[in-house]
Amino acid sequence: MAKKRVLIVDDELNIRRILQAAFDKAGWHALAAEDAQQAITLVNQETVDCVLTDVTMPGASGYELQKELAERHPEIPVIIMTAFGTIPQAVQAVRHGAYDYITKPFDLEALKKLISAAMQGDRKDVNKGGGRRKQNAAPSSSPVHFIAASPIMQEIEETINQVADSRATVLITGESGTGKEVVAKLIHQRSPRLSNPFVAVSCAALPETLLESELFGHEKGAFTGADFAKPGRFELANEGTLFLDEIGDVPMPIQVKLLRVLQEREFERLGATRPTRVDVRLITATNRDLQEAVDEGHFRLDLLYRLQVVEIALPSLRERREDILPLAAHFLERSSQENGRNLKSVSEEALSVLLAYDWPGNIRELENTMERAAVLSSEEETQLLPRHLPPKMRRAA
Ligand SMILES: Nc1ncnc2c1ncn2[C@@H]1O[C@H](COP(=O)(O)OP(=O)(O)OP(=O)(O)O)[C@@H](O)[C@H]1O
Ligand SMILES: [Mg+2]
Repeated sequence: MAKKRVLIVDDELNIRRILQAAFDKAGWHALAAEDAQQAITLVNQETVDCVLTDVTMPGASGYELQKELAERHPEIPVIIMTAFGTIPQAVQAVRHGAYDYITKPFDLEALKKLISAAMQGDRKDVNKGGGRRKQNAAPSSSPVHFIAASPIMQEIEETINQVADSRATVLITGESGTGKEVVAKLIHQRSPRLSNPFVAVSCAALPETLLESELFGHEKGAFTGADFAKPGRFELANEGTLFLDEIGDVPMPIQVKLLRVLQEREFERLGATRPTRVDVRLITATNRDLQEAVDEGHFRLDLLYRLQVVEIALPSLRERREDILPLAAHFLERSSQENGRNLKSVSEEALSVLLAYDWPGNIRELENTMERAAVLSSEEETQLLPRHLPPKMRRAA
């Protein structure tokens, strides 16, 4: 039988050594990473059955790592090693899908038991009502639940079905929370590439070199700190779909490189002398006006043309009120299940409140509102009432 593989993420070499030795003795294969970035790379390349991570590390924290893993690899249990003072945060992480946490200094035997249980898939229930472990993000392989009741969304769904087959780039625009990422996933899942990877990258606020190496990878020694070669997201998405979110934030030099991948299907890893060829379907999204960015000189017009072979403009939720009820009912049912509650339907009165509200945060705001309502309801209640809704919404109605 293959050995179980445990990834240790800690910036302290001594801790990594001690744990590695202990896990080897326990009959597991121990892998180690010194920061979140390295951990993600390893998880993308190798089979990992459990991740054990420190919280405070240079770069991204253990919580950020957990969040990223929950989105991209929800099947891998993550255990957080935390200091005594920060337990509330750790509990929060468990609510967001971490398997469990253990406080430092810990007993090695207890830790090994915990890891064993995690790898056997013994799910711990953190929600009082005995609901399922909450999974914030569906893995890209699990089908997206896409609700399109309004005429405008039905039209958009038709466009999605039409473009899914092709390799055409798609630019998705829309306010925050309108479902841009959901649409990107849906295109992938309805495309012939569905069983290949769907890789998402947010280009927002990443310094240029970091974004460049994230997208295109780098060779060993390409820059200070590049102690190992690493494939970029383009390579990881080969034969699949790459989703670049916040494309408007991409710095000019990287725009040039993107243009080249789109035209020639090849690029160089940072520090590489030979090009790498890939077959990737590119989908991008933005909540900014890219034409305006072009006019201001921040975005290349030739790239914009390449990206928007097809453009899908998602309407705000207030422009598609027919979707409010089906979306609310769906989120209500899901949140009720997750929290051990029984809200199943929306009362007339609550619906009027929902319909009168402006939804600046769009679908995400509706989703959060339904989760809040479910949590605030008692186990006997089956209908959503105005009093389960935030006061500001009731006042607006
Ligand atoms: N048509 C839909 N049917 C069901 N759920 C949806 C739909 N559109 C969006 N959602 C849900 O609403 C939430 C927000 O969607 P998503 O993350 O795709 O929005 P976004 O436009 O990418 O937002 P942001 O600009 O803030 O990144 C997600 O939880 C998503 O599952
Ligand atoms: Mg998004």
